[in-house]
Amino acid sequence: MPDELIIVDGGKPIQGTVRVSGAKNSVLKLMAATIMAPGKSTITNVPIISDVTLMGEVLTNLGAEVNFGDRLVTIDTSTINSVHTPYELVARMRASIAVLGPLISRFGKADVAMPGGCQIGSRKLDMHISGLEALGVHFEVEHGFINASIPHGLIGAPVTLQFPSVGATENLMMAAVCAQGYTTIENAAREPEIIDLGEFLIHMGARITGLGTPKIEIEGINNMHPVAEFSAIGDRIEAGTFLVAGMLGGGPLTVSGINPQHLEMALSKLKKMGADLVLQNDSITISHSGAIQPVDIQTLPFPGFPTDLQAQFMVLNALAEGSSVITENLFENRFVFAEEIRRMGAVIRVEGHQALISGVKRLSGAPVRSPDLRGGAALVLAGLVADGSTEVSGIEHIDRGYEDFVDKLSAVGAQIKRIIT
Ligand code: EPZ
Repeated sequence: MPDELIIVDGGKPIQGTVRVSGAKNSVLKLMAATIMAPGKSTITNVPIISDVTLMGEVLTNLGAEVNFGDRLVTIDTSTINSVHTPYELVARMRASIAVLGPLISRFGKADVAMPGGCQIGSRKLDMHISGLEALGVHFEVEHGFINASIPHGLIGAPVTLQFPSVGATENLMMAAVCAQGYTTIENAAREPEIIDLGEFLIHMGARITGLGTPKIEIEGINNMHPVAEFSAIGDRIEAGTFLVAGMLGGGPLTVSGINPQHLEMALSKLKKMGADLVLQNDSITISHSGAIQPVDIQTLPFPGFPTDLQAQFMVLNALAEGSSVITENLFENRFVFAEEIRRMGAVIRVEGHQALISGVKRLSGAPVRSPDLRGGAALVLAGLVADGSTEVSGIEHIDRGYEDFVDKLSAVGAQIKRIIT
């Protein structure tokens, strides 16, 4: 299998306009939610990325008919004839677990492989399982599969999450909308992607209030219907990634297709670092000159600082005029990226959940390997400003979540290319 590399030559100004694609972490769940109603649904503003293609495979494997168009997907779920999702698919994408709630809602059962851990952490499912058990779901976990059934039906109930897990909130919402009676989810996740999924479910006929707050309330209904057309929100993590590129390359760079309210914490950190920001209702323009001010960062559930932007902001702190601390509170192993950027001259010491960063004047281009999706994107960002050329391998990770990443960066001034070795 030929390997591909991204080669980026540092020092070019980054300016112009880039439009982000639809949000990966919303679209994957919207696609899963279509399972809940037999018929044809269409989702627009869909990013053409490998994780979305893979979710299409998961649905096809269940018997659905999935057709991709120009940044849209039409899914006909009337032909679904299975509740089995094989390990081969789940191992490639943990988000496949999002079919659990929808399968239980529609068929009263599910047979889904347990996802393994991944580069950034163990990614347990205990909150998904305990929350669904509160709604009457019975689980047999054996031979690496989660076998779900509802011996006495799906009954609404009060559920409190011990942590505002995005995935657990999503699976719980998708089961509760078809449960008998009333469900409350306390300590629910508040991410914009949760709101997007909730809106989609409401378009399917669900009765949900409290989206975006810590308490979501759901009144179960009997029959959901397909959604003629629904446009996913813009990808706030892709937007944040490009804002960091604009900060590093000076800008002015306008990032469009995004609601600035989805990035408030990241924007406030950029401002503290010295960025000039102009917000419109669908775009953010960033420019920066002079020194980068170091800023301490704590990753937290939304509206806290997003863990998916941690690596990208580490690049900014690595070049800041002073020291900073980044604390990763969501995942137990999300600093592998630091080891790679150290090869480019960054001065970072990792101690448990904290990365202690001493800013340096310059980074030097080097061959580096993407540890995961966001770390890979951050290595490309570092290459934008490093002296000389940076070769990033393992770019299949980047392709999971960034549509046309090289072309988009090239269009705003980066000297970047993708080669097959
Ligand atoms: C979603 O993952 C995103 N993925 C992640 O983005 C994102 O980092 C994460 O939310 C946090 O915002 C998708 O939406 C596809 P969690 P998810 O459940 O749902 C632990 C990216 O780069 N936990 O909020 O898996 C878990 O191990 C990806 O696009 C349990 O212990 O996140 C993790 O440490 C990376 N038990 C923490 O909670 C559970 O039952 C947060 O997980 C569930 C989660």
